[in-house]
Amino acid sequence: MYRRALTIWPLPRNRATGAGPATSRTLGGMATAAALCDLAPREFLGEIDVLLAIYADAMEADAALLPGRRELMRRHAAYPAFKALEVRSAGYAADDPHTVAGFSYGFHGEPGQWWFDAVSAALSRTIGPALTARWLADCVEVAELHVRKEQQHRGFGTAMLTALTAGRPERTAMLSTPDRETTARRLYRRMGFTDLLTGYSFPGGSPPYAVMGVVLPLADPVAAAGPPRSASPSA
Ligand SMILES: CC(C)(COP(=O)(O)OP(=O)(O)OC[C@H]1O[C@@H](n2cnc3c(N)ncnc32)[C@H](O)[C@@H]1OP(=O)(O)O)[C@@H](O)C(=O)NCCC(=O)NCCS
Repeated sequence: MYRRALTIWPLPRNRATGAGPATSRTLGGMATAAALCDLAPREFLGEIDVLLAIYADAMEADAALLPGRRELMRRHAAYPAFKALEVRSAGYAADDPHTVAGFSYGFHGEPGQWWFDAVSAALSRTIGPALTARWLADCVEVAELHVRKEQQHRGFGTAMLTALTAGRPERTAMLSTPDRETTARRLYRRMGFTDLLTGYSFPGGSPPYAVMGVVLPLADPVAAAGPPRSASPSA
């Protein structure tokens, strides 16, 4: 059961770049204080190797795939309405990668983006073009959400997903995740995401993924024991 509370407090400036202000939240009840910080695209690019290392740790990624992932992340930073967040531990120092516990980012999804076009085609085949359009026409794509293994199960993932989607103007949030019962899958379900497509292999071949969506705002994780939300974006 989820039981962590958030307390919002201001951080005057981003210590990595001197740029500010950054929005931060302490994550209540933790043994060690931590802050949730916005990363402007320039800051995101400046920390990309730290973030990539977290990705590799959390996903147990093949090292050979990391250069391609790095390029993808660079490209994503230029996408419309890009928003990125990271969790920093209390002793955050820009030159100490271990003081960043996790990160997440997303952007406005639109035609011409590889993920959007692939998912749009696959969803159209399964749920039809009309319902596909209602899910994708005005969506934020949650592209990445990762927490360093040693820092998981402390509420960081939930806090980042909540903050990433809070106040977004889009109607829906969309994502894909390995089609297995993982911590990520449970987290997404708890916050209202439903399966729109399962067993999906992306073009070029990939392990099976689930495509999930939610009508924003996200469900309150504390109240997640309530009834499941409708899978229709018209709800
Ligand atoms: C998915 C991921 C980002 C979640 O991050 P996280 O910080 O561990 O997430 P949370 O702590 O908010 O929630 C995870 C679990 O910890 C539990 N938890 C949170 N705070 C807790 C606390 N104070 N005490 C006990 N348990 C707690 C949650 O209830 C949840 O439990 P569950 O797995 O049984 O559902 C992380 O597991 C990860 O990086 N996974 C690998 C990469 C990945 O799959 N990313 C998503 C790709 S689509």
